Amino acid sequence: MREPRMWIDGEWTTARSRGTREVVNPASQEVLARAPEATAEDVSAAVGAARAAFDSGPWGKTTAQDRGKLLFEVARGIRARAAELAATDSRNMGKPIVEAEFDVADAANCFEYYGGLATKIHGDTLNVPDNALSIVVREPVGVVGQIIPWNYPLLMAAWKLGPALAAGCTAVLKPAEQTPLSALMLAEILASVELPRGVVNVVTGDGPVAGAALVSDPRVDKVAFTGGLETGRIVIKTAADTVKRMSIELGGKNPNVVFADADFEAAVDGALFGAFANQGEVCSAGSRLLVEKKIYDRMLGALLEKVTRIKLGDPLDRATKMGPLVTAEHREKVLSYIEIGKREGRLLCGGGAPQRPDLAKGFYVEPTIFADVDNRARIAQEEIFGPVLTVIPFEGEEEAVRIANDTPYGLAGAVWTRDVFRGIRVLRQIRAGILWLNTYHPTYNEAPWGGYKQSGFGRELGPYGIEHYLETKQINVNLTEAPLGWY
Ligand code: NAI
Ligand code: MG
Repeated sequence: MREPRMWIDGEWTTARSRGTREVVNPASQEVLARAPEATAEDVSAAVGAARAAFDSGPWGKTTAQDRGKLLFEVARGIRARAAELAATDSRNMGKPIVEAEFDVADAANCFEYYGGLATKIHGDTLNVPDNALSIVVREPVGVVGQIIPWNYPLLMAAWKLGPALAAGCTAVLKPAEQTPLSALMLAEILASVELPRGVVNVVTGDGPVAGAALVSDPRVDKVAFTGGLETGRIVIKTAADTVKRMSIELGGKNPNVVFADADFEAAVDGALFGAFANQGEVCSAGSRLLVEKKIYDRMLGALLEKVTRIKLGDPLDRATKMGPLVTAEHREKVLSYIEIGKREGRLLCGGGAPQRPDLAKGFYVEPTIFADVDNRARIAQEEIFGPVLTVIPFEGEEEAVRIANDTPYGLAGAVWTRDVFRGIRVLRQIRAGILWLNTYHPTYNEAPWGGYKQSGFGRELGPYGIEHYLETKQINVNLTEAPLGWY
């Protein structure tokens, strides 16, 4: 039994209460580890370490070049342990190993991207109507509290820590209680590159205790949160008490819009990949498929035929295309939406847990498709976060845009058409932050990630992502060598 420890102030430590939580393999229910269950006091110690490291440690004296080099070393460290990291996320979270390998490569690339960007942060010099020099300098925002979800355990840690460290911040990272293992391995890598003590701290524990302690601590300058809408609202309210900077990403109910003139086979592929990659446990999943009426029946037929290729199985098997859901509790939530869907739409395929003895111990759900759904239905409005696709017919561009935008969310979406003018025209009308034309899901470390509306605010990744880890200061330098003479 592994008993990993937390990383606080450069030390490996258990929770002060010595409490632990079982970390479970959702494919087998095997207990993989007992991770420390951080109390508010543990989080407070981590924040204190991050505060001291920011205010008076050697970190503040590092140059951007030093920090950039460290981030390149982190990327190398990740690549050196790539197989182990991928297997850990796959085992702990249930995602197919092939997808986990992509995540690990992406995480290394993310640290490298920010390693390069560290030296490109710069301010400005302004022309002002005075004999003065007005300079704008960028400074790290300070201590950041970073709370991440379980669907991309390592990658979300990279998205959070990469820009924070490039900017010169110090951090307390709290992985999701279900999936702490790869973040703790990342802490080992960070320890091996000799980051000064306290610059990064990783605390494991649940949301309402450890997460809440992080968000409410007045010594934390900024909160970066990725997770569900309900939790996001709590985080925003709590962080407001101490006027923290915030960047918030809260999921979506994303429209994947297929016009009749699209490359049909490509659109079918995109519809399935958009909805079912990572078991559908993706904030940007194309969970609402909007199909033009002219090709609606043909599309349903093609989905039904091709969905059979999504092979459920052991996440560590390279042939597996879909693993189990993250926990029994989450599966219950998804199954309850499927029951709602049976009243709200026409069940095309799936509809429950697979009846296969080899999968009986895992939290599996069949890829499920509902056709003929009204966009006002709950399964079209609420984020299910599982392998459930809702298909909605539409007639013409205007209706497509209206339905696409008829959601409280605004994270992602896609359009499939061979008419590039229409493609761009429709994409420009969709109120969401991440959009694709004739593809679904590719994301880039270079490009801004985040949502409109209730999908949150602030952007991660790219140069946009580092903005939220920087303060902006003006310094006005008087060039007149004489008293002001006002009085
Ligand atoms: P959650 O939003 O509760 O958990 C995300 C993170 O927030 C975890 O690290 C958790 O420990 C932390 N957290 C929970 N309560 C907190 C609190 N009061 N203060 C501070 N931190 C807190 O997500 P959960 O419960 O696992 O899933 C619920 C739903 O949220 C899912 O069904 C899905 O719809 C959505 N979700 C969206 C994600 C996204 O990528 N946008 C990721 C995970 C879940
Ligand atoms: Mg929760």
